[in-house]
Amino acid sequence: MTTSPLHTKTKISVCIGEADQPVGTLIYTKQGARENTSFAYSEGWLSGANRFKVSPELELVTAHQSRKAPSKVDSPFPFALADTAPDAWGRRVILRDHAKRRKNGDQDTKQGALTELDFLLAVDDFSRVGALRLRDEQGVFQRAAHTGQRATPALLDLGKIYAASRAVEQGQETEADLRYLVGKGTSLGGMRPKCTLIDHHQRLAIGKFPSVGDTRSVTRGEVLALRLASAAGINVAQSRIELIDGVAVAVIERFDRTADGRRIPYLSAASMLQASRQDEHHYVEIADAILQSSLQPTLDTQELWRRMVFNHLITNVDDHLQNHGFLHHGHGLWRLAPAFDINPFPDKDRESKTWLSEATGPIIELAPLLAHCEYFSFSRQQALDALAKIYQAVKGWRSMATSAAVGLKPQELDDFAPAFEHEAMEEARISLGHASH
Ligand SMILES: Nc1ncnc2c1ncn2[C@@H]1O[C@H](COP(=O)(O)OP(=O)(O)OP(=O)(O)O)[C@@H](O)[C@H]1O
Ligand SMILES: [Mg+2]
Repeated sequence: MTTSPLHTKTKISVCIGEADQPVGTLIYTKQGARENTSFAYSEGWLSGANRFKVSPELELVTAHQSRKAPSKVDSPFPFALADTAPDAWGRRVILRDHAKRRKNGDQDTKQGALTELDFLLAVDDFSRVGALRLRDEQGVFQRAAHTGQRATPALLDLGKIYAASRAVEQGQETEADLRYLVGKGTSLGGMRPKCTLIDHHQRLAIGKFPSVGDTRSVTRGEVLALRLASAAGINVAQSRIELIDGVAVAVIERFDRTADGRRIPYLSAASMLQASRQDEHHYVEIADAILQSSLQPTLDTQELWRRMVFNHLITNVDDHLQNHGFLHHGHGLWRLAPAFDINPFPDKDRESKTWLSEATGPIIELAPLLAHCEYFSFSRQQALDALAKIYQAVKGWRSMATSAAVGLKPQELDDFAPAFEHEAMEEARISLGHASH
């Protein structure tokens, strides 16, 4: 690493999987406010039988491939690495910890503002999303737990993590709270308070907590949405509610690890499309990416269509490109990852964030989805059959909501009803009725 007050250059080794097979070298340069990166694959990776493009823009060539963020809201890192960087929630924890330690005169604390690299390297190696791993010039994994300490908490520790997370949200955290939270799987992406945990059978899972600003049981709402999606024929992340001192925490099984704990490469849909956070993108573009890169293009485009319809019928309007992802299935071929982060939004307008296509704009009614079904590998009849299954599942939301697995109380259902009972369900019923005549 070279450092002057205005210029830093840091070399990071990128490797993959449990065996930390070397993939390449990342050079991070910061000059004043400007941040750039340059990535080069290692010879071993390029000549190996398992080689694949770990990020869609990184061609399998020996040359250095450089990148600078196209806008202030974009990452300077290759897309696949940017997917592992913390988002709003993780950054908040890392920043607060840094500020507090500096204030208290901790000698090890870095002077000056944290850089994008500091955030990327603050993510716990054990729970980093996907299969890519990072080592510093001394060969130390970033970020590794201190010897003798386990960084990822067990289910039993959830109460303590939840209490510390809540204190952070309320701006009342102690230094001990922050020390406890940092590196403990708190640095996953996303806005909401969460952590990674070691679940039963040693499997990795995500614990998603209620947030201080919630006006309804968002955690039970998410488990409700995931279970309805499964009933609707959609492949979803496994989920359940755990009560921690009476508080409902949504526990979502991590799909980027195999049953025996091996890491599976992950790419968000944003990365697959090489999308800037500033630009509008469309589902037809995700379908095009699936047709190019999926092991099962027909099944995956059909699945994407089901998810668009389901999201519309449950008013999940937070369908941005980080909320869809892909898992690697070998030789540069990918599959759509199970659906995750799907939530009913009863207080929002039914308008998708991701547009259906440039011409149609956002999804605000069902008709354009049916009209475009062939782009997603469905004949009209197959689409109607899929719609019928989704419609039936969503129609049964009240009994799923009050089932033991979800645990909403009958009097809480009014909070959610506008997300499930609306004119789009009526439109679905009419489309299905017409079809049977
Ligand atoms: N089941 C899972 N397995 C593996 N990775 C996951 C899983 N669920 C989420 N992730 C990863 O963690 C990130 C954050 O999770 P999630 O989207 O659920 O959080 P969030 O805070 O609700 O997000 P948002 O900001 O979109 O509301 C995702 O973008 C994805 O990279
Ligand atoms: Mg999300």
